[in-house]
Amino acid sequence: MKTLTKIAGIEFSSCILNASGPNDTTFEELAAIAESMSSAIMMKSCTIEPRQGNDKPRYVRLPLGSIQSMGLPNLGYKEYVRFASELKKYNKPIIASVAGLCTADYIQMVKEFQKSEVDLIEVNLSCPNLEGKPQAAYDFQQTENILSKVFELGEKPIGLKLPPYYDLAQYQQMAELIIRYNVSFITCINSIGNTLIIDPETETPVIKAKSGFGGLCGDYIKPIALANVRYFYELLKDKVSIFGVGGVKSGTDVFEFLLAGADAVQIGTAFEKEGVGSFQRINEELLEIMRRKGYSSVQEVKGKLKYL
Ligand code: SIN
Repeated sequence: MKTLTKIAGIEFSSCILNASGPNDTTFEELAAIAESMSSAIMMKSCTIEPRQGNDKPRYVRLPLGSIQSMGLPNLGYKEYVRFASELKKYNKPIIASVAGLCTADYIQMVKEFQKSEVDLIEVNLSCPNLEGKPQAAYDFQQTENILSKVFELGEKPIGLKLPPYYDLAQYQQMAELIIRYNVSFITCINSIGNTLIIDPETETPVIKAKSGFGGLCGDYIKPIALANVRYFYELLKDKVSIFGVGGVKSGTDVFEFLLAGADAVQIGTAFEKEGVGSFQRINEELLEIMRRKGYSSVQEVKGKLKYL
């Protein structure tokens, strides 16, 4: 029994990989992911120019997850184009993630990654941590403007990293765009933006940037992530592959995301805490659940949520 899956027609040796975010910025970190049981190498969302990111503290572990306001610290997209060539030898899908500060940035980066060794390109429309920059995917006009330009730049599959949606009308609007532009995959969800954790001892927020407003991750957000995966699965069915992200830290969590309709899951907070060993542990736990329940493939579980 295996947990093989496919995303946009590309085979992944298991349905478990790292999320864009923790420990995937430098070449050394990406090589460690490549050598681990992560089934793909997901790279940190990059920008045109290198960025230091937001002031610290900018990542804080919490009892049930984490809050972060990293501010896209990365080495600039050219480095990730170069890393992709060097990471090719690991024979795993490589996923670039691009986070433009304007539409022209998205176009330039997608164009260059189309010519690179990456296998998939994720267009991140949902970083909540940039002062004065709203999350593009909450603005359907801006999203359409970006999509209308980046889908004509090459043949590699392009996906979208989406923020959490809450209102069913928002899902429907986004699903229409996803279908219209032939989006190959979606990543649901980015952290829940603009949340506030206060330390009662210091009487301050726990992170510094944006007056302490940051992206919430981990267990806190799993029900919202599951709902986003589920509703997009219902709207898009098998036309679009789905990565589930948000609070996956056990095989049971993966199983739930598969039932909701995910093809694969990405691990962020648990990977930051536990390191590369998390991928193997979670995969073994998933296999155990599938064995116990009599499932022999991810495809048998995918989308099979039963209703009461
Ligand atoms: C960050 O670097 O601030 C996180 C990236 C994201 O939320 O997309």
